[in-house]
Amino acid sequence: MKRKIIAISNQKGGVGKTTTAINLSTALAATGQKVLIIDLDPQGNASTGLGVDYGQRENSIYEVLAGQANISDSIRKTEIDNLYLIPSTVDLSGIEPELADVNDRAFTLKNIFNANEKLNEFDFIFIDCPPALSLLTVMAMTTANAIIVPLQCEFFALEGLSQLIKTIERVRQNLNPGLSIDGIVLTMYDSRNKLSSQVATDVRNHLREQVYETIIPRNVRVSEAPSFGMPALIYDQRASGSQAYLSLANEVIKQNKEQEAA
Ligand SMILES: Nc1ncnc2c1ncn2[C@@H]1O[C@H](COP(=O)(O)OP(=O)(O)OP(=O)(O)O)[C@@H](O)[C@H]1O
Ligand SMILES: [Mg+2]
Repeated sequence: MKRKIIAISNQKGGVGKTTTAINLSTALAATGQKVLIIDLDPQGNASTGLGVDYGQRENSIYEVLAGQANISDSIRKTEIDNLYLIPSTVDLSGIEPELADVNDRAFTLKNIFNANEKLNEFDFIFIDCPPALSLLTVMAMTTANAIIVPLQCEFFALEGLSQLIKTIERVRQNLNPGLSIDGIVLTMYDSRNKLSSQVATDVRNHLREQVYETIIPRNVRVSEAPSFGMPALIYDQRASGSQAYLSLANEVIKQNKEQEAA
């Protein structure tokens, strides 16, 4: 299988981007795929959620983008077989002004990728984006083959989606013609809440085949896991949220096989 780079993006905060990056990666790693997560958010939630403490974040993605570290030295193994991480720290919030004078700064990450063969070892690379349509997000979209958009099943779910899609279109036109939206994943679905199911129905009616079949339920085990520095799938594999991420991983694998055959 060819290496696939997927940016997990939505400028809305708290919709499940990081949770999806961590658990989808873990599920794919469990099937034997070699997976890398790049934490591209200064909040560093993906790093924390994978148990990489602040003291262990030397050679973070900030140093890589600033040209102070080689990307091969920034990749570390996690506690999970086949799953690797490039961590982030708050320093990353300072990268945009630092790159202000650089030509083609949207290509900073892509150029680093192209110059490093070690990244070809991975089957999947997920980029966990910050909640903003910022340079960091544009860099991720410029580097990626595809985007997965987590959408929370709540009233304002669709608000901001058109802005996100416009940004993706612009990146496709100017920076990365091959970029596709692989799918929208509905998150934090609460079956006892009428609004939740109404939003899910609305989104499916609007966006149809762009929406993954799997719906991620709201599940307390999923929200507890990061405080133990573990993916939900490791913390409690039987939890409904964990099972949903396994099912999403199967869809992603199937989708990629179909894309490769096409
Ligand atoms: N399926 C779920 N069930 C219960 N809680 C969840 C679920 N998914 C995510 N959460 C919780 O919701 C919060 C936001 O999730 P997450 O951090 O993944 O979102 P995000 O989009 O990455 O946020 P940000 O925009 O700040 O980066 C977290 O506290 C997380 O544990
Ligand atoms: Mg996040």
